[in-house]
Formats: sequence, structure tokens, C-alpha cells
Amino acid sequence: MADTIKIGGVAIKRTAALAPMAGVADRAYRLMCKRFGAAYTVSEMVSAKGICYSDRKTAELCTVTDGERPMAVQLFGSEPDFMAEAVKIVLGYKPDIIDINMGCPVPKVIGTGAGSALMKDIGLAADITAAAVKAAGDVPVTVKIRSGWSAETVNAPEMARALEAAGAAAIAVHGRTRDQFYSGQADIGVIRDVKQAVSIPVIGNGDVTDAVSCINMYRETGCDLVMIGRGSYGAPFVFEEIEAALEGRDYTPPTVEERMRIMLEHIRLMLELSPKCEEMAMHEARKHAAWYMNGYYGSAKFRGRCYQLSSYAEAESLANEFIELQSGRMHKNIEENS
Ligand SMILES: Cc1cc2nc3c(=O)[nH]c(=O)nc-3n(C[C@H](O)[C@H](O)[C@H](O)COP(=O)(O)O)c2cc1C
Repeated sequence: MADTIKIGGVAIKRTAALAPMAGVADRAYRLMCKRFGAAYTVSEMVSAKGICYSDRKTAELCTVTDGERPMAVQLFGSEPDFMAEAVKIVLGYKPDIIDINMGCPVPKVIGTGAGSALMKDIGLAADITAAAVKAAGDVPVTVKIRSGWSAETVNAPEMARALEAAGAAAIAVHGRTRDQFYSGQADIGVIRDVKQAVSIPVIGNGDVTDAVSCINMYRETGCDLVMIGRGSYGAPFVFEEIEAALEGRDYTPPTVEERMRIMLEHIRLMLELSPKCEEMAMHEARKHAAWYMNGYYGSAKFRGRCYQLSSYAEAESLANEFIELQSGRMHKNIEENS
């Protein structure tokens, strides 16, 4: 397997990339995933129209820091002219890649004709892509799509061919239809069909949570890069696990103490990067704290307590309590088994 792929002129390590996730994969999250080896990151989706009207929040979403590179800024929109204008503005933030969202299933987005609504209008999707490509100059433009709008209208291969002809430099495919939202299983076969339909790089996405599922995605689809979303919740080290497996190295997952240390590092970074006061920023950190505690003894109760955190000091003492609970349980198991 090649070590790197190229999207336009951008070299990306062929391990695993972090998927765009609005409300989750913010700068602190992306930096944590990069630190553990994510090959490539994508911003939360930004409205092309919002940027054109110089919304302050959207400008913040477009900022790219060196620790996050190679990084794409992702735009959504349904009008080629606004898309072209937004791309020109985004170029000022020096993204490595510009990605267009044609997969979002949320009513607020598809109601404007953007996101996965474009799976129903391949002509318009191609026009939007062509307008972005023209405006982006040397910066590659990629598109993230779903398998189709519904089970009856799976058209990702046809859509991908049209987007390639419009100048897209790569296609990311989430193997679910819009109607599925995030339920059911991602269809790996459709990603393989897209790979066979185009000659630009294809990024496979959907339900990858560890090295085994990542290697399976590469093997079953022939995709050029794998992208992980929810599998990185409370687990930025999933990228380290995957890198080790692909490079044939042994990997030891973090202990509960290490997990809690990583969680606290993540929360500190969120607080440091947030313009909000500690209490407000902690509101956003709560779900992340809960994810880091997933899958352990007593975690349901602790996850509930995570949703009450309002300061870093509280997070620290909850983490210590969680570690104590796990080690107490370990000792109990040893006593019971001896
Ligand atoms: C909370 C959340 C927010 C998301 N936001 C975006 C987004 O802004 N842009 C996008 O293209 N996809 C978005 N997605 C979809 C993911 O990028 C990805 O395609 C999907 O979660 C399937 O991959 P996974 O099974 O690895 O999570 C989002 C998904 C989730 C769960």
C-alpha cells in the first residue's frame, strides 16, 4: 500500500483522516486527532452564503492553524455564484483544500437546496463544483457525498463521475443514503463502485471505528483514504492505533489513567481556544468528557455527571474518581479470582 496519496498537489499520509463534524470536530478536537496521527482534517461545515455576508462566526470556522494541516475548509451552498464568492474569501485563510458538502441530511441545510439535496440534482451539483474549482485556482476542490438520496435512487457513482468532469480533485463517500441519516450500516459496496467509476482519489467513510474496520474499508473498496467520524469520539488515539496497524507495529491502547489524562488535555485545549468563559466553554466540553468514559464499569452514572460539569477543577476531580473506581474494581476482580 502506498504511503501517501495526493489530492491535487497536497500529499496526505494513507492512514486515516478525521471527518468533518459540525458541533463536534472543532479546532481543539482536530488538534487532538492530529496529535495522535490523523492524516488530514476538515473544518466543520460553513455556509457559503454566510461567508459572503461576512458572518463573524463563519469567519472563525474558516481559520486554519498549522497544527491542523493538511486541512480542508468545508463549504455548503446551493448557488454556484455564492459558492465561487465564498471560495475566494476562504482562500484568504490559506486552506490546503476546499471541500464542498453534498451529504448533509439535516432539514435546515437541505431546505436551502444544499447538502444531500444536491444528490437529487447532479447538474446543479456539477455547476457548483465547477464554479468552486474555477474560483479556487491552484487549491484543490473536493466533494463529500452520500450513496444517494434514498435506497431507490443510489447514484453516487454517476454523481462522482459528473463531479470529476466538473474538476473535483477527490470525492469522499459516506456509504449511507440521505434517508438513512446515521442509522443502519454504511454500504461499503457503493464506495467500491465509486472507486471504479472515477480516476481521482476516493475517500471511504462510514462506521470505521478501529484498525480492523479501517483495513477492511481499504481492502473491500480499494479506496485511496479512509475517513473517520464518530469512531473518534472520546478516542483521538484511534488514529494512532490505525497508523500502527498499517505500519505493522504493535499497539497498546491507553490505560484508563492515560485516557483521563488525554481527556483533561482535550478539555484544557477547548478552554484555551474558546472565546467563552470557563463555565460556558465547559458546556461544550461535557459531551467529550462523557465519550472518554464510555465502555467502562459504571460509566453510565459517570456520563450523567459529566453533563453537570461547569469547571476544569470539577472535571479533574471526576477523572480521579473515575480512575479510582476502575482500579478499585480491578483489585476486587483480582481478590475474587485469587
Ligand atoms: C455530529 C455530526 C456532525 C457532522 N457534521 C458534518 C459536517 O459538518 N460536514 C459533513 O460533510 N459531514 C458531517 N457529518 C458526517 C460525517 O462526516 C460522516 O460522514 C458520518 O458521521 C459517517 O462517518 P462515521 O460513521 O465515521 O461517523 C457529521 C456527522 C456527525 C455525527
